[in-house]
Amino acid sequence: MKNILVAGGTGLVGSTLVSLLKEKGHAVSVLSRNPKGEGQFFWNPSEGKIDESILKEVQVLINLSGAGIADKRWSTARKEELHQSRIGTNTFLFQKAIEMPNLEHFITSSGINAYGFEDPEKCFVEEDFFGNDYISQLVKDWEESADLFQGVCKVAKIRTAVVLAKEGGALQKMLPTVKFGIGSHLGTGDQTMCWIHAEDLARLFMHVIDFQLEGAYNALAGTSSNLEFTKSLAEVLHKPFWFPAVPAFVMHLLFGEMSIILLKGLKASNVKIKSTGFEFQYTDLKAALKSVV
Ligand SMILES: NC(=O)c1ccc[n+]([C@@H]2O[C@H](COP(=O)([O-])OP(=O)(O)OC[C@H]3O[C@@H](n4cnc5c(N)ncnc54)[C@H](OP(=O)(O)O)[C@@H]3O)[C@@H](O)[C@H]2O)c1
Repeated sequence: MKNILVAGGTGLVGSTLVSLLKEKGHAVSVLSRNPKGEGQFFWNPSEGKIDESILKEVQVLINLSGAGIADKRWSTARKEELHQSRIGTNTFLFQKAIEMPNLEHFITSSGINAYGFEDPEKCFVEEDFFGNDYISQLVKDWEESADLFQGVCKVAKIRTAVVLAKEGGALQKMLPTVKFGIGSHLGTGDQTMCWIHAEDLARLFMHVIDFQLEGAYNALAGTSSNLEFTKSLAEVLHKPFWFPAVPAFVMHLLFGEMSIILLKGLKASNVKIKSTGFEFQYTDLKAALKSVV
């Protein structure tokens, strides 16, 4: 049993992970800007505030904080928030590491969109270089801020794909149109989406803790084109799929620079995490979708 502190543990990934960790007998606390109920403690990383009473016993520290990448257009202010809520929170937690004498392991969430969108046919592995676009560079900075912990404890970085979950996330943004039978693919629809079921992701974090894994790991169970993904969602919901694609220029108008993550994709390999003994439970897209919609 470990004493585990999960920053940003109130969200989509955190809620599944925290339940699983508790189920397995770990002592879990959550850091939130708006703590509600038992086991949640206050912090406000941008103001340098944290409830220090919980730090002493922490053995495993997980940071899942981050303002939603695809929630708002990437204005200069929004980019600052995306940065602060990831790099800022990792850096702040590192400053507090001195108050965690029992810390063995720091695990940060990170993104699969690390490698850039220049070569859509390549299947990226963890040793590949970061891309040059905004999102890849954000992931690079995010992981470098996690590496601050290198001198203190083991560090793992979970390069997370689109998470399929019952509530929240990308799926909930797609569901309304598909449910009304007007769902459609984006741009050419050829762009590859990497995905993972929320339960598999929670199990993957636990595997990283159990085996004290270090370094970066691609966290995806499968890939599919945007067209295939949207069609599968319509099929699982027993809805027709006939609506024309949303053209790329409309996406640019609606989302500006952020449209890159909707219109472009990349392939990535999950061989590294599997080689450590991890097995995905949801590898079939339709089965994964069925279990969450
Ligand atoms: N879901 C996905 O498909 C996906 C894919 C790739 C990577 N990821 C990454 O995985 C992590 C967890 O994802 P998630 O889907 O669970 O995200 P989420 O549901 O949006 O939750 C993230 C948590 O971050 C905290 N947060 C939000 N804005 C913040 C800010 N400005 N400053 C500090 N904390 C803030 C919130 O906690 P409080 O409000 O309680 O403080 C929130 O519960 C994120 O870093 C995300 O970028 C997710």
